[in-house]
This record gives sequence, structure tokens and C-alpha cells, in this order.
Amino acid sequence: PGLNYLAREAGKLYFGTATDNSEFNETRYQHILNNYLHFGQITPENSMKWYATEPEPGVFNFTAANAIADLAFRNGMILRGHNCVWYDELPAWVTANNYNASELAYIVANHCGTLVGHYRGHVCNWDIINEPLNDNGTFRQDVFYDTLGESYIPIALRAARAADPNAKLYINDYNIEGVGVKSTALQNLIKQLQADDVPIDGVGFESHFIVGEVPTTLVENMQAYAALGLEFAITELDIRMELPETPELLEQQKTDFNTVIHACMSVPQCVGVTVWDWTDKFSWIPSSFPGYGAACPWSSDYVRKPAFDGIAIGF
Ligand code: XIL
Repeated sequence: PGLNYLAREAGKLYFGTATDNSEFNETRYQHILNNYLHFGQITPENSMKWYATEPEPGVFNFTAANAIADLAFRNGMILRGHNCVWYDELPAWVTANNYNASELAYIVANHCGTLVGHYRGHVCNWDIINEPLNDNGTFRQDVFYDTLGESYIPIALRAARAADPNAKLYINDYNIEGVGVKSTALQNLIKQLQADDVPIDGVGFESHFIVGEVPTTLVENMQAYAALGLEFAITELDIRMELPETPELLEQQKTDFNTVIHACMSVPQCVGVTVWDWTDKFSWIPSSFPGYGAACPWSSDYVRKPAFDGIAIGF
């Protein structure tokens, strides 16, 4: 059975994956990616990021992102937007020009409004704010926070709501999957946004985990977010191991994937699960975490790993 099929049968909206344009020319990759039974949802791994969509001030380019949106549309897959405002993968002009607060407020609102507006009616859920917090729960000192303080968050969310009133607007981050200071800080931020009538609909738990180290408080943490009246999703799931892979590590990885799916199944407000690519062949892990890899449910030669079964039996 396919993973999306099982997720839907279990009452979730989707099981999905990230994908990138550079992966499209592989016939075997395409064959599995296009299978709705496995993937009912697609996230562009890079193509909607700021550097790709507004490479020069006010000059937008949707070519790569449109190719992924088309793939999702052709296959009847839900499209998650990723992302509008992030400290990383910005084009140089955003940081290099020392914009003042009113200039940068316009730039943020224009970027979010134009990007979200372009996909109005096509993107179901949008990561509007990506990774705003440090691990100790303080705000990340990026160009947006340094120039605008916390106000960049409402500016972005309001521009997004105006551009597509039906899209669910998310804040997405990592190390908020278990109970802890960073998760508490994000809950406090959300309460503040709600008190200020700022549109916020959901939280994305990235979930880039390490084999054997999945937080033990996933469900308790999700319940805290559910109590805020929000939906949430597992948005970038992968579970890396120190290479080389061994049968023992692959078995533990199966257990760990199962734990994550099981947590999402335990809390109704968890709407779906996205893996940060489905095959080890195209995973971002080996280049970003040297010495680690094998983080996905399919191997680099497209064979289902024990992790696949861990997901399947979790739904
Ligand atoms: C990563 C991509 O997977 C890489 O291809 C890229 O080089 C860097 O970004 N958190 C996020 C994602 O929100 O956008 C990141 O994606 C992984 C961490």
C-alpha cells in the first residue's frame, strides 16, 4: 500500500514529500514521485525561497516554482508553500543594502504579498515565517529582526492573508518538536500574535531527527499546540544516522519513523506528514551534516527501507 493512501485512510489529509527541480530528469524518480498513492502533497525544497523568487529587488521569477506547482496540480496533490521570510538563502540585495525599517517593511510585505498572491488558490498551507527563533527561545538576530524587531512577523503574516485569504499560514521551525524552552517560546509568540489579531493558522514541526534520538515528548508537545487552537504538521521529516548504515541502525530508524507517525496519529490537529525528500539519493543531509546520511524511507537506489514499513504501520 502507498503511504498517502494509508495516511488518508487513517484520517490525515496527506503524506507528502519535498522535491527539487534538479531531480526531475530522473525517470525512475519521477515514476515514484508522481504516484498519488505514496504522495498526496508536495513541498518545493528550494524553488519558492527568496533567492529563487525575487532575485533582484521587485523582480520576481516563478519559473522553477511553477514547475513544481504544475506537478502537484497535474497529480491532484496538495501544495505546501515554503517559504516567505527566512534568514537563510536570501539574495544578497536584501542584506547588503542596509535598508531602514520602513523600506524593509515594504520589502517584506511586497515579497510575501506577491509570492503568496501568485499561488493564490493553489497553495493550501504556507510557511510564511521560517525558523524565527534561536534554540534558547530568543528571536534570531537576522536582518529582519535587527531592522524591524518582532514586527516583521505580523507584517509578513498580514500581507500573506491579504494575498490569499484561504491559505493556512504557518510558522515553521526545528527543535520545537519536543517539550522545551524553544517550543515554549514559540507557543508564547503564537499567543501574542493571537492576542494582537494577527492571522496565524498553523505550526510546522520540521523534524530533522537523528536515529535513536527522537524526542520522547512529541505527543505532549503537540497537545500544547492543539490547546492553542491551531493545526500543525510534520513538515520536513528525515531521520539521519552516522554512516555507514548498519542493519541495527536501519531497524532503529524504522522504530523512530514509526514513533513520529504515531505521534501525529495521536493528535487530531496534526494534519499531515512531509518527508524532506523520500530517497537518500537526493537528501540534503550528507552535504549539510558531514558523516551522516541515509535519512529517508527509500534508499538511494529507490528500494524501500525498513523505515518505509515503520511509516506504513504507523498510520
Ligand atoms: C534545505 C534544502 O534541503 C537544501 O537543498 C538547501 O541547500 C538548504 O535548505 N530547514 C528548512 C529548509 O526550512 O528550507 C531547509 O532546506 C532545511 C532546513
